[in-house]
Order: sequence, then C-alpha cells, then structure tokens
Amino acid sequence: MGQVVWITGASSGLGLHTAQQLGMHGYDVIAGARSFARDKAVEHCLSIPLDVTDEESIDAFAARALAMAGPPDILVNCAGMLILGSCENYPIEEIERVMNVNFLGQVRMIQRVLPLMREKGGGKIVNFSSINGLLGIPFEGAYTASKHAIEGFSECLALEVKPYGIQVMLVEPGDHQSGSAAYRPHSKGITAASPYRAAFETGTAVIAHDEENGSDPDVLGETIARVLKRRRIPRRLRIAKMDQRLAVVLHDVLPAWAFDAIIGSYYRKNKEPRKK
Ligand SMILES: NC(=O)c1ccc[n+]([C@@H]2O[C@H](COP(=O)([O-])OP(=O)(O)OC[C@H]3O[C@@H](n4cnc5c(N)ncnc54)[C@H](OP(=O)(O)O)[C@@H]3O)[C@@H](O)[C@H]2O)c1
Repeated sequence: MGQVVWITGASSGLGLHTAQQLGMHGYDVIAGARSFARDKAVEHCLSIPLDVTDEESIDAFAARALAMAGPPDILVNCAGMLILGSCENYPIEEIERVMNVNFLGQVRMIQRVLPLMREKGGGKIVNFSSINGLLGIPFEGAYTASKHAIEGFSECLALEVKPYGIQVMLVEPGDHQSGSAAYRPHSKGITAASPYRAAFETGTAVIAHDEENGSDPDVLGETIARVLKRRRIPRRLRIAKMDQRLAVVLHDVLPAWAFDAIIGSYYRKNKEPRKK
C-alpha cells in the first residue's frame, strides 16, 4: 500500500490535476470536494464529499477516509475560491466567505489531521498559497488576505509540529490554466456606479489573460507529487513563470512607490483575449 494522501478541492483545477498526478505516482489518494456529493469522481482516487467550511462534513469525510485507507500520511489543502472586487466595495460577507474557504477551511483540515499524524509519528501538510500570498495585485483583496493568512499560519504551524515529525510546505503557484476564471464570481460591490468600475474591467481582463496564458496544471501536480517523495520537503514550493518570480523579488527589494508604479501600470494595460 502507498502513502495515504487526503486532498481537498480535488474536483477541478489545480486540485484535480494534483490528485490525479499523486494517484499516478502511487499514492493512495482520498479526494474531497463538495461536488463529489453529486456526480463527480476522480480517476486514480477515491472521491468523498467534503465541504471545508462545515465541521460535520469534515468529520464525515474523515470517518469514511479512515475506514477506507487508515490515517493520512499527507494532507494537501487545495480547496479555494476567488471573488474579484475592490477593497472599498467588498461586502464584508464576501470577504468572510473567501476567508472561510481559503484560510479557515485549511485550518479546520489541519486541526483534523494533526492528532492522527502525531499518533502515527509524522506526516506532511501541504497548504496551497499563491504568489498572492507574497504580494498584492488590484481587485484580489479578499483572496490575497486569505493567502497571506495561510502563509503566516503555516510558518507558526511548522515550528510547533516539527517535534512530532510533521513537516509543512506552502505551494505558491503563479498563474495556471485551471479553467476557474469561467465560473469565478465578481463582487456585488462592483456596481455600474462604482468609482472602480473602469479600472476593475481593465484589471480583471489582465488577470483573465494571464490565467489563460498560464502554466500547465499537470506540471504543477507532477512537481508536487515528486517533491512529496523527498524525506525532507521545502517550506515553500514556488511554481511560477519567471516574470511572476521576479515580481516577488522586486516586491521585497524595491521601495513601495517603485513597486506600486510597476504593478499599477501592468494592471492598467488592456489585454486582448488570446487568439484561439
Ligand atoms: N488557478 C491558478 O492560477 C492559481 C494560482 C495560485 C493559487 N491557486 C490556488 O490553487 C487552488 C485551486 O485553485 P483553482 O484555480 O484550481 O480553483 P478551482 O478550479 O475553482 O477549484 C477550486 C476547488 O476547491 C473546491 N472547493 C471550493 N469551495 C470548497 C469548499 N467549501 N469545500 C471543499 N471544496 C471546496 C472546488 O470544488 P467543489 O466546488 O466541488 O467543492 C474545487 O475543487 C486554490 O487554493 C487557489 O487559491 C490557483
């Protein structure tokens, strides 16, 4: 029997590709997502319904996963969502929703697996962050806050669980062709009267363009599967194109006014949709 992986958000996008790649690399993958309650299943994996915002759903997922494959060696926290909107106009309820899935959802899963991993004598926890966990871009305020939160939480967690043989890794993807732009909600706060409307249209067109031209999610999944085979895993696994890696470096070394000028002008440029 291979190592047991629990992976959340495995019904689409990066989670689906990562789950499949883990399965192909010989892991016993237990995949969770809300839509598994309906019709979906994932090749190379056992699929169980899971809502990471609901403690009862997490308990039911854990009970079924434990019965099927025993305690997890690895948790991959991939479930996530993005609501595009302006910091001034986001209804608080939208920020709460994003934080609830992206940050608290990961925390709930971590708290659920830690007693199992401690009892087992070790484990690996993989938390999906983003390049947005390291820097901000316009109109991703709620998402960026959630990813910064998981960055900080993971650093504290790693220090606390090391004595129990448990390692923590943050995955920091740049733009990938996940397909999620097609069903991504826009904030209710961006009304026709919003002063941010025009900048929002231009900025979100740039975001959509960059995702459409993003990296291959299978390569990301394959990289994670390969890195997890190592005895010692890195704290951060950045999987991004050169320009997005460079942005992180510039963010850390440039004065804020200079970095803001570069990023601001980038998201003010109109991007034509990719020619098919
Ligand atoms: N795509 C990118 O370019 C990119 C870049 C950087 C980071 N990321 C990160 O990668 C992860 C996946 O992103 P993606 O773009 O691939 O998104 P996606 O295609 O929208 O997939 C999101 C996944 O999360 C699941 N999910 C959402 N809410 C959930 C909940 N309450 N409980 C359980 N599962 C839930 C969805 O499944 P159900 O709807 O079936 O529940 C789906 O499987 C996210 O953490 C995201 O922040 C993505």
